[in-house]
Amino acid sequence: MSILFHEATKEFHLYNHEVSYIIQVLPNNQLGNLYFGKRIEDKETYGYLREGGYRPLATFVFEGDMNFSLQHTRQEYPSYGTTDFRYPAFEIEQMNGSKISNFEYEAHRIYQGKNKIQGLPATYVEEKEEADTLDIILMDKVSKMKLILSYTIYNKLSVITRNAKFMNEGEEIKFLNKALSMSLDLPDYNYEMVHFAGAWSRERALKIRKLEQGVTSIHSLRGSSSAEHNPFFMLKRPNTDENMGEVIGFSLVYSGNFLAQVEVDSHYTTRISMGIHPDTFRWQLRQGESFQTPEVVMVYSSSGCNQMSQTFHLLYRTRLSKGYWRDRERPILCNNWEATEFDFNEEKIIKIAKSAKELGVELFVLDDGWFGKRNHDRAGLGDWYVNKDKLPSGINGLADKIEALGMKFGLWFEPEMVNKDSDLYRAHPDWILNTPNRSQSHGRNQYVLDYSREEVVDYIEALISTVLQEAKISYVKWDMNRYITECYSLALTPEKQGEVMHRYVLGVYRLYEKLTDKFPEVLFESCSSGGARFDPGILYYAPQTWTSDDTDAAERMKIQYSTSFVYPISSMGAHVSEVPNQQTKRIIPMETRANVAFFGDLGYELDLSILCEEEKEKVKKQIIIYKQQRKLLQQGTFYRLISPYDNKENAWMVVDCKQEKAIVGYYRLLCEPNAGFTRLRLSGLEAKKKYKISGKKEPFYYGSELMNAGIVITNNEMCAGGGDFSSVLYYLNEI
Ligand code: DGJ
Repeated sequence: MSILFHEATKEFHLYNHEVSYIIQVLPNNQLGNLYFGKRIEDKETYGYLREGGYRPLATFVFEGDMNFSLQHTRQEYPSYGTTDFRYPAFEIEQMNGSKISNFEYEAHRIYQGKNKIQGLPATYVEEKEEADTLDIILMDKVSKMKLILSYTIYNKLSVITRNAKFMNEGEEIKFLNKALSMSLDLPDYNYEMVHFAGAWSRERALKIRKLEQGVTSIHSLRGSSSAEHNPFFMLKRPNTDENMGEVIGFSLVYSGNFLAQVEVDSHYTTRISMGIHPDTFRWQLRQGESFQTPEVVMVYSSSGCNQMSQTFHLLYRTRLSKGYWRDRERPILCNNWEATEFDFNEEKIIKIAKSAKELGVELFVLDDGWFGKRNHDRAGLGDWYVNKDKLPSGINGLADKIEALGMKFGLWFEPEMVNKDSDLYRAHPDWILNTPNRSQSHGRNQYVLDYSREEVVDYIEALISTVLQEAKISYVKWDMNRYITECYSLALTPEKQGEVMHRYVLGVYRLYEKLTDKFPEVLFESCSSGGARFDPGILYYAPQTWTSDDTDAAERMKIQYSTSFVYPISSMGAHVSEVPNQQTKRIIPMETRANVAFFGDLGYELDLSILCEEEKEKVKKQIIIYKQQRKLLQQGTFYRLISPYDNKENAWMVVDCKQEKAIVGYYRLLCEPNAGFTRLRLSGLEAKKKYKISGKKEPFYYGSELMNAGIVITNNEMCAGGGDFSSVLYYLNEI
């Protein structure tokens, strides 16, 4: 059991081989934090780590005691208004208008394993020995609110997860105005906050900020986790790099509005807060009702960012994603969107599909435009039945034809949306989120269905189920192409309108749950105008996500590189597309386009039927190699070697778990004339093992040699002779 409770000192110590987390019941019975970091030995008390003492201008908890102020105490789940002036983790509004709470320790339970979180996605265990859980039960005696703080520590991974649950045990109605998933106080502020920000088509660009006194935060108020900010950040020491130094990653398992905030106070401690964004949240709790927050996953590494990322990858690939496809190699697909957009018919689709089959593609995906009157983006969303003008043999007929070619068939849906020009909207105009007597803003001519209403989710579920039942469909691309505005549900009372944003997300999860339960062997790939909802909440249901609508290989290097800080390679849909690229107009060699897409779930998104013979041969070869190396690429241990962010070069690699095989990708962005020699130092190999590198004359290299002296990269090994956007993949095999 890796959670200990010291009765005499009322201290909890959660630890494994790598990490320690120590909580103490404070003199006022609230919870304090004593330590979070590299594993330290257990002892009866680490109480001295709670620094107290008199300070001018401080306010104190107990009369006559000038040493105990919450303002200067590191806490677990702080409230505002009782001597702490920093941002709180929660706020409860009571009938008399008071917002003061005092949650005191009442009891705790420690058990093996990890319980499910009702209605919400979360990491899990398969055997109860994999993790231990601590639930601390606290009570506010005045308001009769109960709070349960849950902590799970994985035994073999440097992972601690947290969540909070509120229960109203009193007669009076309360309102939760804020209920974050976690708060954590660290004793100093010598950190850089690294986070991933952007916009459509340039999602998750790496940003680094030095912490200073005050608040640094990222958030989404868009109704989904968004392209603008990802619900993940890390705090790293300034000297931490990929291979050494301390870093802690914080990842919220949630797909809606979020806040991730770091506050440095006047005495240089750091408070981390993360959870549902309070600005669009207000939850009514009647007697007996409860509210459950989403989960936060914290990963600690003392050996740099690669180790932190590898822990996230392993956890999210094997203990967050679930179901049939979790451990299976993902099919190579061809998607028609960039080739045809809405302009297709059955003949055109079959033509592309035939070429795809000839080149070795395994799955053909029909994207937007197959249903209702969907010949453009102004109509059809919500009418999930086939457009027979375009596809006379129906989806089942087309699916049969694709299957007869020897490929699987996949289909696009955008289940959460509706166009006003649709049968669905005409029948149920009250089913969209909109505020009475206010304008209704649209995005891409579409409106958001009110997923806080069960009947809406059930209706869409029935339509999609019919399509999936009637045709041989092996894959679903679930898109979401606009953010939420004028958020209001016509089905809820005024006091419950603050619940709509979260209830919407719960509705999305409910539909995912139903469809993945009903069609367990269908592979779900999520999408949101590319990667605007690339988050752990969705990964729980859909093990892969369309990473970005930007398929330009140079841009993709950055996007995939940044995404890899938290999300596994197997979660990133990565397609080879046409040149000039539709977003950037850039022309990048076919080899490099594929060499980038190899570090993801490979697909092709162009009209394969019009490629010249030489290009077709290249694609054929790429597919043969990817199939041979797929397990290693999708499930190997991934290392970032060189960052593409200075626009010069990029390198990364994967190594299998036995350290027998590895694949290294080296990419040049803008090439320098008369450049120096290029050496690339590798990672993750076994020092004493001998490796042969395909294409290199050297009979073998020691692992230590490759990790310290490095590979010598020559221009003639690279496609395009080492010029702009050239690249090379090296295949290493133990001999
Ligand atoms: C946005 C997606 O990111 C694209 O891949 C494509 O599916 C379009 N939507 C279709 O409308």
